[in-house]
Amino acid sequence: MTPMPDSLDATWTHAWARLLAGARGRSDPFHQGVLASVSYEGPEARYAVLRAVDPAAGTVAFHTDGRSPKVAQFQTDPRVAWCFFGHGEQVRLSGRVSLHTSDVDADAAWSASGRSARQNYAGANAPGTGVAEPGEGGPPSLRSSPLDAAGLAQARSRFVFARIQVQSLDWLSLSAAGHCRALFDRGDDRWDARWLTP
Ligand SMILES: Cc1cc2nc3c(=O)[nH]c(=O)nc-3n(C[C@H](O)[C@H](O)[C@H](O)COP(=O)(O)O)c2cc1C
Repeated sequence: MTPMPDSLDATWTHAWARLLAGARGRSDPFHQGVLASVSYEGPEARYAVLRAVDPAAGTVAFHTDGRSPKVAQFQTDPRVAWCFFGHGEQVRLSGRVSLHTSDVDADAAWSASGRSARQNYAGANAPGTGVAEPGEGGPPSLRSSPLDAAGLAQARSRFVFARIQVQSLDWLSLSAAGHCRALFDRGDDRWDARWLTP
């Protein structure tokens, strides 16, 4: 069992270690979290898979389909929140998202994606399109033949690497021994850290 951090520095390292483990492990509870965006109708939330974590830069990333409604929301208002829970701990991130479609970051993420991940971008329809039959217009089944070169190129054209510059990280630990909470806010040249009442 991971010992509970007993200082703000240790908590910072611990929280980012949780995120790193989430990005690496498919069965880790931090592998996906609830990502909230701002739309004209108000807040919208959905799960997204945590794909990349850079503690030194204070960034996290996910992949998405450029045709999905949330991408249009990010273009209008890039503010996001992303919430994770596991191991009795909650990590809440807030920040701004930047969208990468055809730069080295997007190319590297696409190159590192496996067949099933790439297939997610091969559906005929934009996510959220109304259809007559269940599943219609979505990604082809993994039982179907692998994408050919044209199919792969089309899927790649829809692929977005979305990186969040974290502005604040709120860590909460729930324990019978006593709950504990810390907040880290990005300053100009360092992170301001403080304990909060849980
Ligand atoms: C566990 C889980 C992980 C998901 N991961 C992603 C993801 O990494 N990227 C993504 O665009 N959608 C992901 N989805 C689908 C979204 O939650 C959402 O249904 C879809 O992206 C359409 O969202 P939108 O209409 O808000 O754009 C995931 C769904 C689940 C249940």
